Amino acid sequence: MSEDDPKGFERGLTNYGDKDFSVYLRRSFASSMGYSREVLKKPIVGIANSFSGFNNCHRHFPELVEHVKRGVLLGGGLPIEFPTISLGEVFLSPTSLKFRNLMSMDTEEMIRAQPMDAVVLMGGCDKTVPAQLMGAASADLPAVQLVAGPMMTSRYGEERLGACTDCRRFWGKYRAGEVSDDQINDIEGRLATTSGTCAVMGTASTMACIAETLGMALPGTAAIPAVHADRLRSAEASGFAAARMIDNPIRPSEVITQKSVENAIRVLLALGGSTNAIIHLTAVAGRLGITVSLERLNQLSDETPVLVNLKPVGSHYMEDFFFAGGMGAVLRELKPLLHLDTVSVTGETLGDRLEQDPGYVDRRVIASADEPLEPQGGLVALFGNLAPRGAILKRSAADSTLFEKEGRAVVFTSLEDLAARVDDPDLDIRPDDIMVLQNSGPKSASGMPESGYLPIPKKLSSKGVKDMIRISDARMSGTAFGTIVLHVAPEAAVGGPLALVRTGDRIRLSVSDKRIELLVDDAELARRRSDWTPDIVPAEKRRGYDRLYASEVLQADEGCDFSFLQPVAGAAETDRSASEKEGRLR
Ligand code: FES
Repeated sequence: MSEDDPKGFERGLTNYGDKDFSVYLRRSFASSMGYSREVLKKPIVGIANSFSGFNNCHRHFPELVEHVKRGVLLGGGLPIEFPTISLGEVFLSPTSLKFRNLMSMDTEEMIRAQPMDAVVLMGGCDKTVPAQLMGAASADLPAVQLVAGPMMTSRYGEERLGACTDCRRFWGKYRAGEVSDDQINDIEGRLATTSGTCAVMGTASTMACIAETLGMALPGTAAIPAVHADRLRSAEASGFAAARMIDNPIRPSEVITQKSVENAIRVLLALGGSTNAIIHLTAVAGRLGITVSLERLNQLSDETPVLVNLKPVGSHYMEDFFFAGGMGAVLRELKPLLHLDTVSVTGETLGDRLEQDPGYVDRRVIASADEPLEPQGGLVALFGNLAPRGAILKRSAADSTLFEKEGRAVVFTSLEDLAARVDDPDLDIRPDDIMVLQNSGPKSASGMPESGYLPIPKKLSSKGVKDMIRISDARMSGTAFGTIVLHVAPEAAVGGPLALVRTGDRIRLSVSDKRIELLVDDAELARRRSDWTPDIVPAEKRRGYDRLYASEVLQADEGCDFSFLQPVAGAAETDRSASEKEGRLR
């Protein structure tokens, strides 16, 4: 943005072929909303508000947005709120991931098309923060991410409950017959009792911590509970920071860099964070031409300790993490491993931030680097003939006795097949078998749902079997746990080797070698491949967004972004900027 660029309401004019007429008409219509002539001269901070009646995690946004507006006004800007798509995790079918890219496009285009000089992004529930970061990165207007903050925990008898690790824990007990119908109904009403995102280090909390580490959210804001007064203060501070960036713009492309992305991977590993976050971080970085390689993830994982004792891996909840010192404490422990010259939306470097007094740190929740919970990071990428482009295992949430193991595959060809047979008393399955789910990747009919946490068959869970190796091209909720290999790429629906596995095959997992191998000879695999035919409806036989998604979604190792949303070098973007400056329609 240069001094001469139009600001506020004069940015990006609607095209009537007469610039002055466009300004006159816009001011006239803006006046109809009660703005005075003086106010219309102010620079504008847009507030992308993803409130929705279909998003419980954003229930408090109507209150929160008022505090953002106050901050913008204090910073000298004019706050103007606008809606975008919202993605309430459990209210979307087939899965919220399918719509993440749609929300990112909505966010990007509304930032670009409407007259604003900076923007505050209000998100929180799983896919909303990645979508907003992706959109903001592509729009590259100064932006501050404000997250919803986590829910508070609740109680059931003597037990503390937090969505959604405890949702799964009690559902597993219910399936095993340890919890009655009445009890599960009672628990259902107590799992999620306040506004905010899931109360554990699931995807939403992981992405909030990543947004803060990248520098896109204000320091210290990731973990503040949704209902805490500090959350309201963080909203005011975010609005203020966005308004201040108008005169000293710091663009997402200056904040999200190779170094800050690497810092974010370190934090993801130290948190024992969600496997979903690696997909989202890859997509956010990809919008700025930054590659997240799974080989590099493994290097960083080997030298980054797990420090945070939160569910689903550990025993505490997000509110404990906040009171224990939050992200500031984690970053201080990781300091020797981090790039300290990265800059946040405040203009401060990470090194400067970490010079400040750390305050109280509860070592029961956030371990020191000298005495980590685990010496190595929570996630590991696996490669081999079953996953030539990689797969992910959350080793911090897995049973280490299963890390070096060969077993017999029991294959489910789809989610429908899984649902139909997993609890069949006649299912031929033993505790040391390896469960395989096919056709649940990004291009499959199910759109890569969080179904990688295959239920332990009832005939085994009722006998006390708690974990088995499970392999799929699906995702897993950040709140889940188990020895679960996810994101196998390429996926089965496009003919990846996962599609060629048959019940009875042998599979070998080696976490120490980071390998996942299908022990079937090449000639047999070639024979199976020649018989394989795709089982998905081709893009050209679909319509609308479903068609766009089917034709454009990339594989998990590419962040499941759309290919056309990645940066294009050269003319198109340049032409677009030029036309926007002239106030022409693009
Ligand atoms: Fe929104 Fe879990 S349902 S973060």
